[in-house]
Amino acid sequence: MLDIAAGGGRHSRFFANRGHPVTAVDRDTSLLDLDPGIEVVRADLEDGSPWPLVGRAFGAVVVTNYLHRPLMPDLLGALAPGGVLLYETFMVGNERFGRPSNPDYLLKDGELLELVRGRLSVTAYEARLISDPHMAMVQRIAARRPG
Ligand SMILES: C[S@@+](CC[C@H](N)C(=O)[O-])C[C@H]1O[C@@H](n2cnc3c(N)ncnc32)[C@H](O)[C@@H]1O
Repeated sequence: MLDIAAGGGRHSRFFANRGHPVTAVDRDTSLLDLDPGIEVVRADLEDGSPWPLVGRAFGAVVVTNYLHRPLMPDLLGALAPGGVLLYETFMVGNERFGRPSNPDYLLKDGELLELVRGRLSVTAYEARLISDPHMAMVQRIAARRPG
């Protein structure tokens, strides 16, 4: 499993604790535990450096609460055949509730569906208001690469 912008590693640990090999990428890896089941990759994903995982493919790519659109081709390219993309982040409308409110960090209506159209098979998709852990507008998708 590849955890992009893994932060404190809550999803990395979730998968590692269930026996999955995990690679966690973030520019700040100080909060990622030195868990033997987690490969930690410190990388700035927005400074124009080459994609740090060239040639590698994962059974799942997880991205939550993070959006940097130029990365999208690399995220899809990191999926092994049969691999699953799990992506959830804020969308337009979230500005009513606070940050992020900058459109650069807010998905447009239907954007995750557009991202995977013709490439992945959609298992589940939602665009909705949530109240836990606080009010926010989010989009979330689970989509599988054929194969
Ligand atoms: C809101 S946190 C989300 C963390 C985690 N995905 C979660 O949902 O718990 C955003 C993460 O993106 C990382 N991040 C922000 N800009 C980044 C960049 N340019 N390159 C790599 N990571 C970055 C931050 O360090 C932070 O850990």
